[in-house]
Amino acid sequence: MRLEAHQIMSYELVAADGSELPEFEPGSHVDVFIQEDMIRQFSMCNPCWDRSHYRIAVLREEHGTGGSEFMYDRVRPGDLLEISPPKHMFKLAPLAKQHLLIGGGIGITPIMCMAYALQRDNTPFELHYCVRTEEHMAFASELNAFAESANVHFHLDGGDPSKGLNLAALLKEQESGTHLYYCGPPGMMSAAKEASAHWQQGTVHYELFAKAADADETLDQETNREFKITLTSTGETFVVEEYQTIVDVLRENGYSIDTSCEDGFCGTCLTRYVAGEPEHRDEVLDDEDREEYVMICCARSRTPELVLDL
Ligand code: FES
Repeated sequence: MRLEAHQIMSYELVAADGSELPEFEPGSHVDVFIQEDMIRQFSMCNPCWDRSHYRIAVLREEHGTGGSEFMYDRVRPGDLLEISPPKHMFKLAPLAKQHLLIGGGIGITPIMCMAYALQRDNTPFELHYCVRTEEHMAFASELNAFAESANVHFHLDGGDPSKGLNLAALLKEQESGTHLYYCGPPGMMSAAKEASAHWQQGTVHYELFAKAADADETLDQETNREFKITLTSTGETFVVEEYQTIVDVLRENGYSIDTSCEDGFCGTCLTRYVAGEPEHRDEVLDDEDREEYVMICCARSRTPELVLDL
């Protein structure tokens, strides 16, 4: 464990038997099973070629749902934690000519992992790190070291976003071949989404750690319809009524399904489907992922039946 900044602690997770950990990619995260019914996602922020450990960082949130508080206050070196294999939903685009990375607060963690990979591959990138004050700035010396190969900018707003990074100005023009990646608090996420709305489709990538401020607006406009799900392993078919989620129905029928946010932004309930057309309602999957996967805590179906690889 290491105190990185005000209320930010980093942890190095190693395999209990000392073996090498499964591969991960820039932007990957793991689910940490903190307690029963408490699963939280943390991005790796160490170089992805070092599989001796996963480094994660936790911001202790005073008014959160208890996960970060538990990690920060109770988890100590030598404790055993159960985690999922790495999940990879926030990806660097292999064909991008340039990468524009923006991290706000604790959202710098996946961005750091991306920066390490881009630096190693001599791929041009520009990085912006938005924080309140120097005291809140985690990994400053590591980020400064990237300055040799990239444009690195620190934006300290003292708690007033209007004094921080001007996202509208930064994202106004999209240089050809540039991809944008951002992760940070909800206000920053909404501002970045709005400021990049005119960017070419498929060139904007982000990872949410909380529900976007404008997410409800979108969902409220959609109506739920009943549909059926079939499981490939048993051939069982269940009806998902308009007031239920797929997860609700599976649990009702005795299946144990891991979830965390139950709101389509954490990635825990990722499930492969093999037939039917989901009505995706998550904030996690990109267009390519959506051809194969569905987030079953929130998705519905455009077809009368959805066949899940469960
Ligand atoms: Fe978080 Fe489904 S539980 S996306």
